[in-house]
Amino acid sequence: APPLRLHATVSDTYSETIELADLDWDNLGFGLQPTDYMYMMKCSEGGRFANGELRRFGNIELSPSAGVLNYGQGLFEGLKAYRKQDGNILLFRPEENALRMKMGAERMCMPSPTVEQFVEAVKTTVLANKRWIPPPGKGSLYVRPLLMGSGAVLGLAPAPEFTFLIYVSPVGNYFKEGVAPINLVVENELHRATPGGTGGVKTIGNYAAVLKAQSAAKAKGYSDVLYLDCVHKRYLEEVSSCNIFVVKGKVISTPAIKGTILPGITRKSIIDVARSQGFQVEERLVSVNELLDADEVFCTGTAVVVSPVGSITYNDKRVSYGDNGVGPVSQQLYSVLTRMQMGLIEDKMNWTVE
Ligand code: COI
Repeated sequence: APPLRLHATVSDTYSETIELADLDWDNLGFGLQPTDYMYMMKCSEGGRFANGELRRFGNIELSPSAGVLNYGQGLFEGLKAYRKQDGNILLFRPEENALRMKMGAERMCMPSPTVEQFVEAVKTTVLANKRWIPPPGKGSLYVRPLLMGSGAVLGLAPAPEFTFLIYVSPVGNYFKEGVAPINLVVENELHRATPGGTGGVKTIGNYAAVLKAQSAAKAKGYSDVLYLDCVHKRYLEEVSSCNIFVVKGKVISTPAIKGTILPGITRKSIIDVARSQGFQVEERLVSVNELLDADEVFCTGTAVVVSPVGSITYNDKRVSYGDNGVGPVSQQLYSVLTRMQMGLIEDKMNWTVE
């Protein structure tokens, strides 16, 4: 294997340094705030990524015929870095993102960086941008790795060159509701994924595919869309950008990972946290009718963390949860997970990386 470049060099492509100046740390939403550096690493037909380097954050150059632009040969990842009270920085399960990118790359006919390269690149990028990590309790630095067919193709085929890129942005709450419960609407016509399709990997096209239903839902005042399976139109799949959990007593259920559900790292972590807190967690087919008598519903994702659901509208019938407050189970799981991610409680699971 080519030697790993532990300390990437900084190229001079972009020269201007951005000022932290007017950043309002108390009101970070989930939008792009350009930062200082991004990481780039290429791989051509030999299949090995090498010579990763930090560059000033800025636009990248692609052939109009790049595989990612023409045929959607691309994947993305998402993870967060938190600043601790003692100044250290914590990443949450970065190897899981590396492994998920490898799995997705295999489905999308792309080579991928090794787990070591991925994790080292994430660390390098976060450290190079560390002044952009919000103060403890104000948010996190969202890390967005991309893998794309950057080489030119015209006939349909895998691209001849691939680019791995990481950029970062300080973020706060994902939904405009902040920490308040979100309102979902069940979509009956459009679907996010099909059996045998790509719903189970983090390919960019999965996210373009939900924009139409999401825009329509937002125009009607909903926070987001809950998708059903496309075969029976009866079982829960996921929300546009996150997984879903249904709480009934001490039992928490979530759709099983069977190819159409994105295997969320927060999803997987919450399952383990919930079990460690004495809940029974079931991964199975969850019928849309189970929403009617659920005690609580919540969503999980890197960006959304644990988001309580205040209401779900299905065929014009609205079911509400938790009297517009955050339900106790969502609150408990959110609190254990985020305190672990921020280094406020002991990480018995060994998930955080300093
Ligand atoms: C994440 O939660 O990190 C995601 O990748 C979802 C994205 C649509 C923000």
